[in-house]
Amino acid sequence: MEDIDDVLNNVSSTLKFMAKAGCAGFDCSEKTIGVVEKLDKMTSSSLDGLDAIRNELGECKRCKLFSGRTNIVFGTGNPGARLVFVGEGPGYDEDIKGEPFVGRAGQLLTKIIEAINLTRDEVYICNIIKCRPPSNRNPEADEIKACFPFLKRQLDAIGPDFICALGTFAAQTLLDTNEPISKLRGRLFDYRGTQLMPTYHPAYLLRSPEKKRDVWEDMKKLIGMMKG
Ligand code: URA
Repeated sequence: MEDIDDVLNNVSSTLKFMAKAGCAGFDCSEKTIGVVEKLDKMTSSSLDGLDAIRNELGECKRCKLFSGRTNIVFGTGNPGARLVFVGEGPGYDEDIKGEPFVGRAGQLLTKIIEAINLTRDEVYICNIIKCRPPSNRNPEADEIKACFPFLKRQLDAIGPDFICALGTFAAQTLLDTNEPISKLRGRLFDYRGTQLMPTYHPAYLLRSPEKKRDVWEDMKKLIGMMKG
């Protein structure tokens, strides 16, 4: 049986979807009735969105990273999430499991998500690139060029209200800037019509635990805006 959180989550996703579809409220205007009549078709095509993108990605060989990967790490979580976390790219554990943020940094991300009273299932988690670079080196320009269009389409399909960019790499790529993360974190930016807040990467927090305080400030601001 669905628990109350699942039901509320579904209602919230449906209302969000209806708003996006052009439904201004629960009136009985012809416009609203027209939107509701079309909704079934639109909902199923939107739900298909992420699956269709994954199918199109296939056993991707669009860049050289395919040769060293075990699994493509596409993304995980709620396809109608209001909040999406974007990291850099899969590490060792993620490559083995095919799921983002499941190693030590991932465990810290899970704690951060839970600290703002959400769960991994309620948000969506993904990365700038979907295959592990050798020895966890930074992704290279040709790899981002091949992979980033798929992330953009994932974000379009999900249509979140907020994106949290984790670390230098995600923030700089999504915002197309060279500004350091220390200057970007905690500020609100526009990413193609969606509000985006960069914060420090959880792997950096493992090395510099004193920065957890900053991330907590960023998360409080983010959740405040989500509630407001
Ligand atoms: N670091 C990332 O940026 N992404 C992951 O999925 C895991 C670690």
